[in-house]
Amino acid sequence: MSGDLNANKILGAVLATAFVIVGVQQVTAAIYHTEAPKRMGYFVDAPEEAAGGAAEAVLPPDWGTVLPTADLAAGEAAFARCVACHTVTAGGANGTGPNLYGVLGRPVASHAGFAYSDAMIAHKAEAPTWTYDALDQFLTAPGRVVQGTKMSFAGIRDTQTRVNLIAWLRSQGSGGVAVPAPDPARQPGAAAAPAETPAETPAPGAEQAAAQAGGAAGSAPDTGPAARSTTQATPAAPPAATSGGHSAH
Ligand code: HEC
Repeated sequence: MSGDLNANKILGAVLATAFVIVGVQQVTAAIYHTEAPKRMGYFVDAPEEAAGGAAEAVLPPDWGTVLPTADLAAGEAAFARCVACHTVTAGGANGTGPNLYGVLGRPVASHAGFAYSDAMIAHKAEAPTWTYDALDQFLTAPGRVVQGTKMSFAGIRDTQTRVNLIAWLRSQGSGGVAVPAPDPARQPGAAAAPAETPAETPAPGAEQAAAQAGGAAGSAPDTGPAARSTTQATPAAPPAATSGGHSAH
């Protein structure tokens, strides 16, 4: 008899424990209302190109075509994003960043009196001059092009804004840098032409963009497969992602 009673007590205790566990789960769920984030993982403010959007990133601007029609006033306005750190007048002081007078066509990391990062000095070996393309790539994603740069600036994703800005920078002491002739290989539609013949011979620009996208995948996880597998490994939504989900309402 007493054996039965003990068995009942034990069963009762087990059931009670089960109820408590379920109850706590319910209450917790009610208190901490969580929603699965629309996109798993941390949000990284990386340019779209990093996500492998090859379609738009393939061709660099055709400077010979875009510079003559660039909007200098819009370029000057875009420079508002730089003035916290840069002056652009002749002989202007170095601030957080170096003076940018005549930066187009200027050797990389060359402005007197400015202590460049090791990353920027190393970049000089690969790309010695701030050409149109070099500036354009750098301003798209400074930290991606010069990994470890101390220029804390996310970059300008919009190509037309960069074109306007670079055209305006040219007018600030770089007027001697010639506008190149229009390059048919960079004009819209040029990317489609090589695609007609099988993609064994990608355009040089495409190869470069692919290399950039590949290089970016490691440093700037966005929606690539690598990023997805990382987030799967840690399914618990981090607090940042959770609050992000709320603010997205
Ligand atoms: C938060 C401060 C900051 C902002 C904002 C900023 N920069 Fe910079 N910039 C720097 C620093 C610091 C460096 C030096 C980088 C290094 O040594 O790694 C630099 C370097 C540069 C260089 C290389 C110059 C050289 O002499 O080699 C260019 C070009 C440049 N910035 C352009 C811009 C433009 C254009 C903008 C605005 C769209 C901008 N920067 C916004 C801080 C900034």
